[in-house]
Amino acid sequence: MKDTRERLSHITLSLHWLIAFFILGLMSLGVYMTETSSYDLYPTHKSLGIFIFFFIVIRALWRWKNGWPQPVAQHKSWEEALAKLVHWVLILGTLAFPISGMLLSIGGGHGLQLFGLDLMSANLVDGQRQTLNPDLASIAGEVHESLLPIMLAAILLHVAGALKHHIIDKNNTLKRMLGFKNQ
Ligand code: HEM
Ligand code: HEM
Repeated sequence: MKDTRERLSHITLSLHWLIAFFILGLMSLGVYMTETSSYDLYPTHKSLGIFIFFFIVIRALWRWKNGWPQPVAQHKSWEEALAKLVHWVLILGTLAFPISGMLLSIGGGHGLQLFGLDLMSANLVDGQRQTLNPDLASIAGEVHESLLPIMLAAILLHVAGALKHHIIDKNNTLKRMLGFKNQ
């Protein structure tokens, strides 16, 4: 089923909430593990990030093929422009987070592991891990870190917009994303 004014497809709903849950969780885990130097949590963070990347790519392709959901009602033009900008930041940010994370891990010589499965081996020299590409690791690390404030701001604006539509405008924007039928 295509995304229409009345209903959003099951694919749109499932991907939105699955990815939202993982992104919020991975942002929290990322901040916690770096602030507390909990290096034992890094492999879990990386594996969950690689796992959700698969769904993030499917969602981006889905949006590319189907376009954005049509607004449920006529909004002010600045509101529609802001919502569209925020949606673009959210889609691109969800792609950039795991891509920069993977490049950070590869550049640092850690390779890529998905729950113990070796997707790319670590760069070992005489049994010791060696940085593979310091410039790549440093740029990817900067990008990964800078995404945090950008995505936090975009998510806050996004949730504020959803609540405004629900509480002030009293339209079905939020209900539709929660899977309720138009009433
Ligand atoms: C998919 C969504 C992801 C989100 C939302 C996310 C978010 C974060 C955040 C907020 C931090 C803390 C800020 C920082 O110091 O950079 C962090 C750290 C980190 N992330 Fe991710 N991440 C994701 C995926 C990944 C992936 C796929 C990898 C690698 C395969 C990865 C590797 C790392 C590493 C190594 C750190 C620690 C950086 C350091 O020690 O400075 N992340 N992540
Ligand atoms: C947790 C609270 C959240 C709420 C209440 C919420 C609510 C909504 C609503 C109501 C829409 C539909 C907007 C419309 O009809 O034009 C929407 C769309 C969207 N949301 Fe969220 N959202 C949340 C979290 C997130 C997060 C964390 C992300 C990404 C990191 C995100 C990314 C998107 C994107 C890209 C769209 C465009 C449609 C799509 O591709 O699914 N949302 N959201």
